[in-house]
Order: sequence, then structure tokens, then C-alpha cells
Amino acid sequence: MADKSMDGLNTFEAQVETKVDTAKKLRIGIIGCGWIADSHMKAYLNQPDVEIVAGADLVPGKAAKFFEKHGVEGAKSDYASHKEMLDDESLALDAVSICTYNRQHAEPAIYALKKGVNVLLEKPFTVTLDEAIEVMKAEKESGKVLSIGFQPRLDANMQMIKKICQSGELGEIYYIQTGGGRRRGIPTPFGTTFIEDKTAGLGALGDIGCYSLDMVLNAIGYPKPLTVSGYKSNFFGKCPTYSGYRADKRAEYADLFGVDDFAAAFVRLEGGIILDFRIAWAMNMDTPGDTIILGTKGGLRIPSTECWNGSVGGPMKIYHEVCGQQVETEIPIIKMKEGLFDLKIRTFLDAVKNGTPAPVPSSQILYNQAIIDGIAKSAECGREVEIVIPEI
Ligand SMILES: NC(=O)c1ccc[n+]([C@@H]2O[C@H](COP(=O)([O-])OP(=O)(O)OC[C@H]3O[C@@H](n4cnc5c(N)ncnc54)[C@H](O)[C@@H]3O)[C@@H](O)[C@H]2O)c1
Repeated sequence: MADKSMDGLNTFEAQVETKVDTAKKLRIGIIGCGWIADSHMKAYLNQPDVEIVAGADLVPGKAAKFFEKHGVEGAKSDYASHKEMLDDESLALDAVSICTYNRQHAEPAIYALKKGVNVLLEKPFTVTLDEAIEVMKAEKESGKVLSIGFQPRLDANMQMIKKICQSGELGEIYYIQTGGGRRRGIPTPFGTTFIEDKTAGLGALGDIGCYSLDMVLNAIGYPKPLTVSGYKSNFFGKCPTYSGYRADKRAEYADLFGVDDFAAAFVRLEGGIILDFRIAWAMNMDTPGDTIILGTKGGLRIPSTECWNGSVGGPMKIYHEVCGQQVETEIPIIKMKEGLFDLKIRTFLDAVKNGTPAPVPSSQILYNQAIIDGIAKSAECGREVEIVIPEI
């Protein structure tokens, strides 16, 4: 493990092995060649031990264009879906990145794992808890690596949140407020796959909500969620005059909009911890508030953050007492030298090569998904629901 000094102030233990064994090249396929696949591809191309051998997309010709754009030669791309690509044994795939829209996360992941291929699956894990359970069953049977695409976790500031929570500096943690949002930010720049139910399945909740949940749940060791009272709405997405849509597409997008643009929830976690959560793709407010973590010895404020970009919104502060005096300790921002996608891909490849645990294990993200699923169910029936997670 490498130690990297940050401006002489802070130390970040990089999670990346500095020495990469280039004798064994991993054969990689990309499933879904849309927007985020670009970031996967760029990061793979930065690795010395990777060969991109194939890509599949439901849209004919899209995978070929994708390879052309990235200057990748010799990769096969004439597959009509993930199935055709994974059935092609001549590829001898070691791993795939699954970069498909949310409703197409579970099926390709299960298919790949059943074929004995390691999987890096984009977030959110799935759309429903039932799907996540099925993916995890396939993972267990296969013994392969399944990692979920939460790259903000690899940010040194995010890791500092975890270090603070785990250090005991805050005492016993009993209440967390988290979430985030945008004033006008329903993602439609590349079409409608994020807003149609048949492709996205989840709106703000699954797109950016899962990151806020991961930021705090990972920090406190992912306690099991027990109950949730959730709310969802779609006032902006369904509005034909919503100013965040392209002017010529407003009526069309409003008609197609089939997910949530706002969600809020009150979640009870194991250990008596309360999680108060809200997330917005659009709202008449600049921010739904900072993230705060309250403990018996101290409280941590994380300024309102676009945590989905792996950033905290400014220096964090611990509110505590020293010799009876109330004091505030500022935690300086740690500047990262590594790109988060490079770290995401490298840590996944290292797990595949070394047979070590997934950098972002499904066993943790299962609880993230269970909360999202609980919010959707509670919002539908209009009351608090118990979160029941079956054995895998
Ligand atoms: N980690 C991040 O920072 C980050 C950022 C953006 C998006 N994402 C996630 O990545 C996923 C994809 O987002 P996007 O913006 O790239 O979407 P996109 O719509 O641009 O691309 C998805 C592509 O997958 C293809 N596809 C769907 N099902 C397929 C299948 N079974 N086989 C082959 N191809 C298939 C579609 O044709 C499309 O080209 C989403 O789940 C999103 O939440 C993650």
C-alpha cells in the first residue's frame, strides 16, 4: 500500500497497489456503451494490464462507434445484447463493466456471473431489493467478484468521514441527516433513459440518493435498516413547463417522465440510529441541507455536498467539547491526485487478479438497496414499512 502526502497536511492511504503485474492481462468487455461507459473505458485504457476485447449495446452500431471514439482496435462489437457477448466463449472474458440503465442491471449481472465472469456493476445496485437478492445469489454460486460502482467512496475526504466516525471522536452516533439535490437538475442531456420508468425504474432516489446513503452508511459500518417511512414525488418531472428541460422537449419529456424527482424518508437502523434523508433532482431550494452526524461526544457537519461527484461541499467541522469548552475543529479538504474512476477500475482489477474481496461489496450495498426499496414501498402504501431482507 502506498502512502501519499497531501500538501504536507494530510495523509491518504491510497487503496491502489503501486505495482501492477503486467504479465497477466485481463480480458475486459463492456456491456452498455452509453455515457458512463466512456469513463470506464478511459480508466481501463490507463491500466497497463488490460485488454478491451468486446462491447455490446442494444442499439446497433453503438458499441462499434464507442470503440472508434476511444481508438480501441480489434475489439468485437457485433453483439445485439449482453447475452450474445457473454455466450461468445472465444472472448475468454475475465471481467465486464455493466454500464446499462438501471432496469438492465440485474439481468446482465446474473448472466455474467453465471458464465463465471467477474462484474463491475454501475450504481444503483438494482431497481428492487428482490433483484439485488437474485444478483447476490448468482454471485455466491459463482464465487466471482461483484463490485458496485460507488467511486466516491475512494475519495480521501469521504474516507475521512469514515475515519472520524470509526475513531470514537463522535461517541455513540444516534442521528444522521443526509441527502442532497439540485434546484433544476433532472438528467436529460443524453436522452430519456434516466426519466422513463421502463429504463430507469428509479429517479433521484436511485440516481443520486444511493450515493448520499452510501456516504453515511459506509462511514458508520452499514448497520441493517429496520423500518422506513418514505415519500416520493414528481412535480417537476411531470410538469410540461419545467424550465430544466430543453424548451422544444418539455411536453414530450413531461409525458415520458415515469420516476421520482424528489424523495424523503425517516429510516430506523439497527443500533437505535435514526437516518433522516431527502434527495432532489429538482426543487425550489438551493440545497436540502448539510449532512450532519450527531454523536454523544461530538457532531460532524459535512457542508451540503454533491457527494455523487465524490466531493464534500467544503471543510467539515466537528462540534465537541474540550475541557468543558464548546469548540469546533475544522477538517481541511484533502486534495486527491488520483482520478476516482481510475481508482474504481484499478481496485476492481486488483480484486479480480488477487482473488480479494470486492472494493464495494454487494453485502453492504444490499442495505442501501433495501432502504431505496423500502422508500418506494412505503411511499406507495402511505405508511411506515418494515424492511425484510431474505437470506441469501
Ligand atoms: N458511477 C457514476 O458516476 C455514474 C454516472 C452516470 C451514470 N451511472 C449509472 O450508469 C448507468 C448507465 O448510465 P448512462 O448515463 O451511461 O446511460 P445511457 O442510457 O447513456 O447508456 C446505457 C446504455 O446501455 C445500453 N443497454 C441497455 N441494456 C443493455 C443490454 N442488456 N445489453 C447491452 N446494452 C444495453 C443502452 O442501449 C444504452 O446505450 C446507470 O445505471 C447510471 O445510474 C453511474
